[in-house]
Amino acid sequence: MIATDLNAVWNGLPFPALVLDRKRHVIEANSAAEQFLSASEKQIMKRGLTHFFGRNSIIMGTVAQAVADTSSVSQYGVDVSTGGQAAVSCNIYVNFLSPEDGTILLIVQPAGVALKMSQSLTHLAAARSVTAMAGMLAHEIRNPLAGITGAAQLLAMNASDADKELAEMIGMEAKRIGNLVDRVEHFGDQRPVERQPVNIHDVLDRASRSAKAGFASHVTFSLEYDPSLPEVAGDPDQLLQVFQNLIKNSSEAIADSRGQIRIRTSYNSGMKFAATGHRIENLPIQVEVIDNGKGIPESLIADVFDPFVSSKSNGTGLGLSLVSKIVASHGGLIECSSGEGKTRFCVRLPIWRNKKDTV
Ligand SMILES: Nc1ncnc2c1ncn2[C@@H]1O[C@H](COP(=O)(O)OP(=O)(O)OP(=O)(O)O)[C@@H](O)[C@H]1O
Ligand SMILES: [Mg+2]
Repeated sequence: MIATDLNAVWNGLPFPALVLDRKRHVIEANSAAEQFLSASEKQIMKRGLTHFFGRNSIIMGTVAQAVADTSSVSQYGVDVSTGGQAAVSCNIYVNFLSPEDGTILLIVQPAGVALKMSQSLTHLAAARSVTAMAGMLAHEIRNPLAGITGAAQLLAMNASDADKELAEMIGMEAKRIGNLVDRVEHFGDQRPVERQPVNIHDVLDRASRSAKAGFASHVTFSLEYDPSLPEVAGDPDQLLQVFQNLIKNSSEAIADSRGQIRIRTSYNSGMKFAATGHRIENLPIQVEVIDNGKGIPESLIADVFDPFVSSKSNGTGLGLSLVSKIVASHGGLIECSSGEGKTRFCVRLPIWRNKKDTV
């Protein structure tokens, strides 16, 4: 009985934990470790620690130190990279469990999770400051813009070919400003999310299909859905915007025909999140959008969710800011990691339970 309970505790731990034998081979791995190492229990067991973290990882040094001191050793803010993925900042705890058989407990706590949570709230605040400007901007710009567009159309009617081209250019640029105003105005939409049961796979199908028919025609999509996934509590139109924006960014980061976008859904029961002053949200539904494009420029990675942050000559920098706002208003979380040839956005969303879920 006790063994079963401890097993549940072990697998319920929100952080990757491994038990190692004297030779630093894995003899136990919890569910979070399987996820962290992107491998099944079978693939992890009996493998040497170096297989996952490399010979020169600080983890190896920390384990060696704990063995030498026959005690526990902690290291904070260590960059840990597994299986060629981008390094994640982690706190590491190593505990020398038993001098007789030399077993060691290793716990890796990705510092990124806590950081990303606080960041995602900061992004929400940034999005709110855009909101304050949005109404005023939309109102002040729309009327003169309509005047400019109308005047350009009148000019084009009687103009020479060369002038007609210029008038059309005015019209096109005015349209671009109009689109920008529309996007900024989205931030002004303060209505609470009308939650309803949403089949997230339908949303993802719609987003990927329309992308494939338009701006993402050069990209191969790989859809890896967990068919048993329950329904999400959300607003389908807003969620569609989230994934349209993520897919659009991915396809813009992919230059050639070898480009691939993977959309993967899975269930992760361990993920809970409480924003200050809000109820605890269980966020078991995980949707990942992964591309093999050029990656997020390192100088931008900390700020990508902030409004007006863009590396593109014609980008508004509002895409991810809107994505972050929608995800946060669903009580969800978004995080990203990016390295050479692999950029991953992970959206975590709440599950639909019953009508009471409507906020
Ligand atoms: N999948 C990705 N791969 C590489 N870089 C990305 C990716 N997603 C986002 N970025 C980077 O983050 C920046 C901000 O993205 P965001 O969607 O907010 O704005 P944008 O795409 O530049 O403009 P807009 O969305 O208005 O067209 C991008 O300019 C790009 O540099
Ligand atoms: Mg974008």
